[in-house]
Amino acid sequence: MTVHADAARPSASSPRATPRSKTLFSPYTLGDLTLANRMVLSPMTRSRALAGNVPNPLAAQYYVQRASAGLMITEATQVSPQGVGYIRTPGMHSAEQVAGWRAVTDAVHEAGGTIFAQLWHVGRVSHPDFHGGALPVAPSALPVEGEAFTQNGRVKIVTPRALEANEIADIVVQFGKAAANAKAAGFDGVELHGANGYLLDQFLRDGANHRTDAYGGAIRNRARFPLEVAAAVIDVWGPERVGFKASPSFSGYSMSDSNPTETFSYLATRLSELKLAYLHVTEPVAAGRARVTPTLRQIFKGTLIVNGGYDAQSGNAAIAGGEADLVAFGVPFLANPDLPLRYRRNAPLNAADQATFYAGEEKGYIDYPALNA
Ligand SMILES: Cc1cc2nc3c(=O)[nH]c(=O)nc-3n(C[C@H](O)[C@H](O)[C@H](O)COP(=O)(O)O)c2cc1C
Repeated sequence: MTVHADAARPSASSPRATPRSKTLFSPYTLGDLTLANRMVLSPMTRSRALAGNVPNPLAAQYYVQRASAGLMITEATQVSPQGVGYIRTPGMHSAEQVAGWRAVTDAVHEAGGTIFAQLWHVGRVSHPDFHGGALPVAPSALPVEGEAFTQNGRVKIVTPRALEANEIADIVVQFGKAAANAKAAGFDGVELHGANGYLLDQFLRDGANHRTDAYGGAIRNRARFPLEVAAAVIDVWGPERVGFKASPSFSGYSMSDSNPTETFSYLATRLSELKLAYLHVTEPVAAGRARVTPTLRQIFKGTLIVNGGYDAQSGNAAIAGGEADLVAFGVPFLANPDLPLRYRRNAPLNAADQATFYAGEEKGYIDYPALNA
């Protein structure tokens, strides 16, 4: 069923009124957090961090402008220098970075918003330019198609080196420290970036993970590292403030899996057992029956966030039909800081300017107009 956006307008309904379907504008209880609506700002890299990968002071304004989302998830934020793969992306591993994020969370909370930090390690989606000439790391030394964005422009991704088992343990510790830093920076929770071909995803999928030790082979082994990371972060936050983003159909950066339904069903089962706050699945809504998301909805007992090409109509339909609890919007929210209001009013949308998605300063970042601005 499709619910018109206006169906959710608050009204002085009497207790005997027929209950309305849930919509994008219905409040939602996420653990001990009350979200004002079911619209999520999807995490988006904007490549505007300052020297030392410290968040740009403009980031406070950018997130405050979007604080009418029920929940905001930050741009991907690296857990360590080894986790970097794009220029001007912020980190969560130095005191300066934590101070920069504190300015963001304070401003967002003052504006009444709720914000989780997305924690990231790119693994093989990187380049020696970021690592003093050393090779990027991955589960296995397999070639990768794609380009990295370094201080020298677009450069071809090189074949990474395989991580030693003791290095895997070190990265689990890095995630735990970054989770603690996110807490010190005043975030409301953290999301693990397990999607889009980065390190956690590289371990999960058999096309990227050819290891023969305890971290490779059967799915219970391939999921070991992401689950160890989840456990380390839960130790810091408790499960009700930790989410996980997965992309079962993503095929960029040479990513593949021989059985995505089995792989991601196993992951969802285990994350459900850990009582994680939410599973965030990005998979194009237009992909039809091939989507893994409906299966994951059945398996994962916590909150499900869906993402991938949603608009007001398909987002409301997903909520009303019980296919998801929350819907994350990327590009529409990037270009429309007041997206919830626009969807509610059925108002026209600003067009997104792809040329300013990454890098630059104010333009395309904090200058998209709000309605009546
Ligand atoms: C400019 C840009 C940057 C992005 N950066 C991230 C990121 O840092 N982390 C992440 O999980 N996804 C990232 N994404 C993916 C979005 O979160 C989202 O999954 C994708 O845009 C699909 O949602 P949409 O159709 O609503 O835009 C990015 C997308 C865009 C357009």
